[in-house]
Order: sequence, then C-alpha cells, then structure tokens
Amino acid sequence: MKATPTPVKVEVIEERIRSNPAYVAKFKAALPDASINIDTVAEAIAAFERTIEPAVAPFDRWVDGDETAISDSAKRGFELYNGKALCVVCHRGWRFTDDLFHDIGTTTTDRGRGAVVKDDPLLQFAFKTPTLRDVTLRPPYMHSGAQVTLVEVMKHYEKGGIDRPSRSSLMRPIQLTDQERQDLIAFMETLSGSGRSATAVPKQQ
Ligand code: HEC
Repeated sequence: MKATPTPVKVEVIEERIRSNPAYVAKFKAALPDASINIDTVAEAIAAFERTIEPAVAPFDRWVDGDETAISDSAKRGFELYNGKALCVVCHRGWRFTDDLFHDIGTTTTDRGRGAVVKDDPLLQFAFKTPTLRDVTLRPPYMHSGAQVTLVEVMKHYEKGGIDRPSRSSLMRPIQLTDQERQDLIAFMETLSGSGRSATAVPKQQ
C-alpha cells in the first residue's frame, strides 16, 4: 500500500528539474533562452498538452460506418460496456469520462478528492474518471498505478472493489466469462489512435 503523497511545492518542482541533467538538456533544446522556473515549466507543459490532439481511433472509424475497423470481439465488448458491465455510466460520451469524482473501491490510503473536500463522505477515496482514449498506451492504471494490465483492471471491476461508505453506488460485482473479459479489453483497445505515449525522464541518482 502506498503512503498518501504530500502536495508538491513549486520550489520542489523547479529543484527536481534543475537537478536532472537530462531535463536541463531537453529544456534548453525546447526553450533556449528561458531559465527553469515555474512559469517556463508551465509554458512547456502547456506546449506539450497542445500537441495531444484527439486522433481518429479504430472505434471512431467503426462508428463512422466502417464495419471492418474493429473485430467482432470488440463489438461484443462495446455491447457489454453499455450493457451488463455498466462502464458507460461513468466513462461516457466521446471522451469516455463524466468528468466527475468517484470512489471505485481500490485499495488505497490516498483520500483523493476527499483530501480537499474533507466533509463530503462520498468524496473520500474518490478520483476523477479518466478518459479511456489511448488507454492501452499508458499503463500502469489508476491513480496509484497499482494495476499494471487491463486484465487486472477488469478483475477489480468484476469484484466491485472495497465495500466502504464512500464507494459509488454504481460499483457492484459483475459476473463475466473469460471471453466477455477479453471482449471488453478488445473494445478498449479500439480507443487507441494517436500511437504516442508520454514517458518521464528517470530520476538521476
Ligand atoms: C462509478 C464510476 C465508474 C464505473 C462504473 C467504471 N469506472 Fe473505470 N474508472 C472510474 C474512476 C473514478 C477511475 C479512476 C480511479 C483511480 O484513479 O483510482 C477509473 C479508472 C479506469 C481505468 C484506468 C484508466 C487509467 O488511465 O488509469 C480503466 C481502464 C477503466 N476505469 C475501465 C472501466 C471499465 C472497463 C468499466 C466497466 C467494467 C469501468 N471502468 C467502470 C470510474 C468508473
């Protein structure tokens, strides 16, 4: 179990980047005339985020009428997603998120949104629903990275997570066959379109 992370101060962010030669070199290449401070770091992050454009995924081509864009397994997975697996209630719309916070019952000591909104019992252990676009490109999963594969994620949802007062009423055990689990994963795989993933520069010792 991971300890609750303490909020990172701005100075710590600057210090960590300045003390990592790989980041310093990349920073210089991207913004040659800028010094490393929180404003230029924010500028760099914003420039990076502007490059993350929604790409057309196989799922989108299928919705547009190309029946061959995704497999039969993925099509069955999409039905389960909207049907008995009930994923769509939270991961909904074109961005596959409701932009809300939920406790989905993961094993964690991190109170998530509850650390900010302390007096709302339903926000304890609640995290924002992430989009499922490009989900295969960014393991490990969940806020803690505790689940490494989509199979592990699915097993969590099948069990329904830890039953505690804050757990969303939308979370409940789901019975899936091995084939159905595979179908749901095949569907999630059709949401990856951009082919890019972001990697952090390892910490220097
Ligand atoms: C009650 C709302 C809710 C339901 C229902 C739900 N999810 Fe989630 N999902 C979340 C939240 C909130 C997180 C983030 C939890 C965290 O960070 O600890 C999440 C995380 C995930 C992740 C990890 C994504 C990442 O980038 O780390 C995947 C994959 C996922 N859900 C798939 C599914 C599937 C498949 C179903 C249906 C079986 C489903 N979800 C049902 C709210 C929900």
